[in-house]
Amino acid sequence: MKQLAPLFDAFKKGEWGINQKTEKGSTLLHLAVIENRPDLVEFLLKKGAKPLTDKWGMTPLYLTKLLNQKNALVKEEKRSILIYRNQDEKILPMPIKEFEERLEISYSDSLIFDSAEVIYQVAKKCARKMKKTNFRQMNHWTLCLHKKSMALHRENLYYVRWINRYLGYGVYAAKDIPANTYIGEYTGVVERKNNRKNRFNDYVFSYDLCGKATRWSIDAKSVGNFTRFLNHSDAPNLTSRWVINNGITHIILFSNKFIPKGTQMTYCYGPLYWRTRSAPSPL
Ligand SMILES: C[S@@+](CC[C@H](N)C(=O)[O-])C[C@H]1O[C@@H](n2cnc3c(N)ncnc32)[C@H](O)[C@@H]1O
Repeated sequence: MKQLAPLFDAFKKGEWGINQKTEKGSTLLHLAVIENRPDLVEFLLKKGAKPLTDKWGMTPLYLTKLLNQKNALVKEEKRSILIYRNQDEKILPMPIKEFEERLEISYSDSLIFDSAEVIYQVAKKCARKMKKTNFRQMNHWTLCLHKKSMALHRENLYYVRWINRYLGYGVYAAKDIPANTYIGEYTGVVERKNNRKNRFNDYVFSYDLCGKATRWSIDAKSVGNFTRFLNHSDAPNLTSRWVINNGITHIILFSNKFIPKGTQMTYCYGPLYWRTRSAPSPL
């Protein structure tokens, strides 16, 4: 149900506070993001709206990223990704814009949802799981290990390299990486699972919650980050794990052993992935 219009009217009449929260902890700024009103986001920021968290711990900026929107909360960042140039064996930074154009993908370090409704459905499921002591403790320890690094960009840790026509690209360690180092999040578009369609999509990751599959998957075919280029190994040096952070579950990857500089980084896609494809090469 749309809430922004009546509350914004109440705000104009002085009957609703700029940082006042609804039952679900949403401020006008959250609602302006949810209803995709960049004009109102800008207006509310000028009027002194604060980036408060809602009931699920989500700020308006976080929601903006999850909904892949552009508004005054988002600062433009000029970022690059390291690329290995086979012709002279040099590792060079490439602006993300150029990377996107060359590889015909949109680069995103955030999960992307097509509606706030789905975000809140996921958040509700996560909150229910967090009532169970074993899941809460597991989540707590995963966050203790990785929460700080999860907030940082880690582009200095890896480079993307073209391997060959059979394997395509792969991701390599740009420096020695200690065990248990957070590498990145598997990002892409969160959408309803469609097994028939996904059979031909190499970039679909199950959007697991507490180790169990949900009705959603993460599709990194056209939107994703460097993790979509990670290849499979039966003896991988990365581990993938679910973690609930800022209200929703994420799939993160971290090193499970020391990874020497120049080594290809891999994780195990699981047996289901290869059931419909020819067997993987040993990496
Ligand atoms: C998520 S993509 C990984 C990135 C891919 N190499 C690329 O260039 O886009 C998964 C696809 O990479 C290839 N791949 C990954 N690991 C492989 C392996 N160990 N052996 C053979 N092919 C592999 C397969 O084509 C697989 O469907």
